[in-house]
Amino acid sequence: MRTAAVQAELQGLQERQTVQALPRPAAARGALHQRFARRLIVRRGLNRRLVSYQANKAQPGLRWLRYKEGFSAQLVREALREADGPVLDPFAGIGTTALVAAGAGRQATAIELMPVGVRTARAIVHAANDVYRADIEAAGAQLLAALHRGGAPETFRFPHVPITQHAFPPAAEDALAAARAFLAGCGDPVLRIILDTACMSVLEEVSYTRKDGQYLRWDSRCARQLRGGMHKGPIPSVAQALERRLAEMAEDAPQLRARCAGATPRLLQGSALRDLALLPDASFGLTVTSPPYANRYDYTRTYALELAWLGYDRAGFGRLRQALLSATVENRAKTEQLDRDYPRPDVLARARAAVGRQAALAEALHELRRRRSELGNPNVIALVENYFLEMALVVAELARVTRPGGRVVMVNDNVQYHGQEVPVDLILADIAEACGLHCEEISVLPRGKGNASQQMARFGRRELRKCVYHWRKPAAHSDR
Ligand SMILES: C[S@@+](CC[C@H](N)C(=O)[O-])C[C@H]1O[C@@H](n2cnc3c(N)ncnc32)[C@H](O)[C@@H]1O
Repeated sequence: MRTAAVQAELQGLQERQTVQALPRPAAARGALHQRFARRLIVRRGLNRRLVSYQANKAQPGLRWLRYKEGFSAQLVREALREADGPVLDPFAGIGTTALVAAGAGRQATAIELMPVGVRTARAIVHAANDVYRADIEAAGAQLLAALHRGGAPETFRFPHVPITQHAFPPAAEDALAAARAFLAGCGDPVLRIILDTACMSVLEEVSYTRKDGQYLRWDSRCARQLRGGMHKGPIPSVAQALERRLAEMAEDAPQLRARCAGATPRLLQGSALRDLALLPDASFGLTVTSPPYANRYDYTRTYALELAWLGYDRAGFGRLRQALLSATVENRAKTEQLDRDYPRPDVLARARAAVGRQAALAEALHELRRRRSELGNPNVIALVENYFLEMALVVAELARVTRPGGRVVMVNDNVQYHGQEVPVDLILADIAEACGLHCEEISVLPRGKGNASQQMARFGRRELRKCVYHWRKPAAHSDR
């Protein structure tokens, strides 16, 4: 039963007003947990490797860029058994779902906003279809020779933005300029994409930075004023790192050709918060995806070097950060923009109604608002609110584009702020059911994620669930 305060908060979610009365702590979250308890199933075989990038380190193509936010090809292969028909991933990263699905002979569509992932996925598709090993070897040798010669004009220097300044040792700056000059003169567009991807993929390795959790960490040898930098060990030259990557790419090309020649997934660089609306009703049998988690992770910071390489300036970074699904404290609400521009107002209305009825979310938001003055960053309240409205829209679109009998498989983590658990898995399951999908199972990893050390000291240790959701669109004659 909903308390008066939760009821009021629900109203607030719809009308965007704050509520002062107190709900019974965690009552709504408890009730939601009870509703899905029998569908929350700990699966022993579901380990971290399966839901993370780890297992892709040996996968042709996918090993070219260390996209740590990715999931494994194996997870996708297993999901493909769950439903026939075209496959979709609206948060595609480097395209794991689309590439594996296409390799298995399925039509596949990927939507991804970050050009880093899309560029890599395109290079993989080109390597499978448009070039041979010898082409990559010959073009790679020319690139390395250009690095060796050096002497690139100033105009080809790495286009730094403030957050990338001093990221490379001086010799690496020279080598990267030589690489950029070579790429600018490369007449073959396919080889240019492949070589460009090779260069982009070694930036972290040849820099003073390391992608680490939510941040880009800096090595104390860089010319920045740092408070306690790390030491990342020996840093290879650009030529050394590139030579290794090019050898990997050449080695992978025949395997990619054998596995997925002719399989060309549709790779859309754009926002799921617009492009999903352009897909026809009931056009996919299966979605396998992993959205950003509601955990303050900022993709534009972690991938700053790669984005700068691709030509993003400071304003471009800002625009990209704002267009990403809201998961950081910097994101501003997209509500007005969605109201004004969203191509499917009917789906937006469905999403908004589903969020507006979500009592557990209202309760968590209420508790966070009540403690606003104690929060390290009060913007986490808006983060949680915006995250669920945007995710509800994605879920409503997935319900629309999934065929009867089709399935959605989604990887996501629960989060907690200031001791307030936000059960993302249960809230999204409820929203999915409100939009016409049926939550069959929430598969839980045997080991969850520990809460952040500051939170642990204050609120005790609490493991947050890491899950794979399994939702199904009931068949037309309804088999719920
Ligand atoms: C957890 S990662 C998915 C990784 C992917 N499963 C893979 O194996 O590479 C989430 C992805 O969502 C992307 N993303 C964030 N906001 C987006 C949006 N509005 N539209 C499309 N993609 C978005 C991020 O750039 C990121 O690559």
